Formats: sequence, C-alpha cells, structure tokens
Amino acid sequence: MKVALVFNLKRDSIPGLNRKDLPPDFFAECDDKETIDAIRAALAEFHKVVLVEADEDAYEKLRNERPDIVFNVAEGLWGSGRESQIPAILELLRIPYTGSDPVTLAISLDKARTKEVLQAHGIPTPAFRLVETPDDVAAILAKKGALPAPGKPLLKFPMIVKPLEEGSSKGIVNSAVVKDEDELGREIARVLGKYHEPAIVEEWLPGREFTVAMIGNGENLRCLPIVEIKFDTLPPGVNPIYSYEAKWVWDTSEKPLEIFECPAKVDLELKDDIEAICLRTWSALRIRDWARIDVRLDASGRPQILEVNPLPGILPQPEQNSCFPKAARAAGLSYNTLVRRVLDVAVARLGLAAGSSTVAPPAHFSLR
Ligand SMILES: Nc1ncnc2c1ncn2[C@@H]1O[C@H](COP(=O)(O)OP(=O)(O)OP(=O)(O)O)[C@@H](O)[C@H]1O
Ligand SMILES: [Mg+2]
Repeated sequence: MKVALVFNLKRDSIPGLNRKDLPPDFFAECDDKETIDAIRAALAEFHKVVLVEADEDAYEKLRNERPDIVFNVAEGLWGSGRESQIPAILELLRIPYTGSDPVTLAISLDKARTKEVLQAHGIPTPAFRLVETPDDVAAILAKKGALPAPGKPLLKFPMIVKPLEEGSSKGIVNSAVVKDEDELGREIARVLGKYHEPAIVEEWLPGREFTVAMIGNGENLRCLPIVEIKFDTLPPGVNPIYSYEAKWVWDTSEKPLEIFECPAKVDLELKDDIEAICLRTWSALRIRDWARIDVRLDASGRPQILEVNPLPGILPQPEQNSCFPKAARAAGLSYNTLVRRVLDVAVARLGLAAGSSTVAPPAHFSLR
C-alpha cells in the first residue's frame, strides 16, 4: 500500500513567526524527527511511505499524493480543532486514515466536553467547572450555605487547574494542585494569562494513577498491560501528579525517571474495573483504532477517568518513557509491530485490502 505518514514536527520556527513569540511549550505535543523516522521505518518494512507535514500545504500534498491510507499522528498547531484538521481534510478528499474521526478528536482535546460525554454515559470523572475569568473563583467553591446551580457543582479542595484544551501536560505544572482560595485564584490567572483559553478546575483525586493503551475495534479491541505512574520516583516534596516538569524537565533520556510500572501491580478486580471503565469510555467517545486513557483512583479506591488521548504519543526509545510503546513492549509487541498493528486495525475497519503486514499477536496479548 502507499501510506502517507502525516505529522507535525517539533520545529525551531514557523514561517512568518519568531520562535521567541511562541510559548516555550508550543511544540510539546508535536513529534521530533527521531519519532517520525521511527514510524516511517516501521511502516516502510511492508509499505511504500511518503511523508507529509501537516502544515498549510498539506491539503495540496495529500491531494497530489493520493495515498491508499494516511497514518495520522498530526497534532495540529492552531485552534481547538487542531487535531481534527487533517482527518477533516482527508474526509473531504475521501482518503482513508488511521485513528478517530474529527468529531472524536475535537471532543477529546476539550477536557470539559469529554467529561460531559462521560457524565452523560454515567462514567465516573472528577467534578469540574470551566472558568473564563479570574472573577469566577468564588462562584465555584463549596461554601457553607452555597447552593449549586444545575450543571455547576460546587467544588472541594484540593483541586487541580489545567488549560482546557492542551495535551502533554502543557500548563499542568507542580503548582497546579491547589488547596485554598488564594492558590486557586493564582493558578487560574496563570492558565488564563498564558494559554488564552478557559481553565478547567477539577477536584483532585488522591489515589494511584494508571494509563491504559488500547488497540483495535469492536470485538477485537484490546487493552494492553496497564501502566502505573509511580509518583514516589519524583523529586521529594513535589505534588504527586504527572506534571509538565515530570514529563519534560525531571525525566530526560540521559537520566530517565523510573516512573512507569508495567504491567501495573493491581489485583484482578481492580484490573477488571480499570479496563471496564476504559472500554466504556472508548465506546462513549466512539474512539477508533487506538487511544490511551488516563485513569486515577478516588479517595475510596474507585477508578475515574482523567482524560482521553485518541492520538497517543509513541516515542521510540525505551529511555524516552513513552506509555504506549511501554505497554506494547510488556505485551511482547516491538515498536515496529505496534505501528503496523495500528495500520492493520484501520485497514481491517475500513475493509481495505490488507498490506500483509499483520504479525500474529503473542498469546498473552489478548486480555479481553
Ligand atoms: N483531577 C485530577 N486529579 C488528580 N490528578 C490529576 C487530575 N487531573 C490531572 N491530574 C494529574 O495531572 C496529569 C496531567 O493531566 P492530564 O492528563 O489531564 O493532562 P494532559 O496534558 O492531557 O496529559 P497527556 O500528556 O496525557 O496528554 C495527570 O496525569 C495527573 O497526574
Ligand atoms: Mg494525560
């Protein structure tokens, strides 16, 4: 098959814009050259691959190339619909692609919309409020005598303040966990000022944290071995969250944090509960082909959904600490097999002639 790999590269600059005019974390969600090369090499073992950067010329390039299928890892650069832009273009051009459709990608990038869908399906997720100005602070606090309005719960400390529609822990720094009104106001002002988008304030879940990589569709949907985020590997005294610092500052390839445990040490009941909540989330959001879902336990040890990543990052080197490839390795899937498996499940879903890249899964891959 002719496969176009469509991506956004971490760059030093964007034509017409100075790098210094962009926030330092602007490219955090995008892929580096090494990752693009690794995905290309995995696909190229069985297919002809063309590379298409998801920039303003992408539409013309895809129109001219007319690949049989696109392997989509394009995070997009601008706007709340940025992850949907390439899939929407591909639908216009009637070119098939891997992964979720524009609707699922746009909803999943917006943490509040995602949680509204989950709530409508009765799937547990932390109580939250959307905040658009610093004046909203007092209105979200559960104070004596205060009554919640419909759809506007009053929240209890501790809380966490995050930008509404960013990934890769952009804007979720150690100070984002707040325990009083002053800290809440400070963090809301920080997020509103830096990201020029609403902040989402959530009740903070104190329990263990997991992330679940999933591949497949319908009856062939599989959860890979669960990854636990081990907060005891973070520097002493910091908040137990998988913050921007934890992902990008304290954890380096030269000195990786041993922050993932995979398979997570969970008893069978908890494993079943975590997988069940992720499968329900997958179906509520109509995810396709692959995704990574973040889960955390509440004070009573029950899993709740934090957020959903239908375009999961896949850094190739084990020391880069990337959850999806880590889970795949624990299931006996090499990086190359993982990449081709994503392509294959899309090919099967679309009913396209398979490019014969399928490698039989190891027996312990089937968890469900
Ligand atoms: N309500 C919450 N309770 C406890 N911890 C939370 C909560 N929300 C977020 N966190 C912590 O902050 C981290 C980052 O939050 P979140 O997963 O929402 O950000 P993200 O940028 O979308 O992440 P990703 O890199 O997976 O795209 C979580 O992994 C978790 O440790
Ligand atoms: Mg996350």
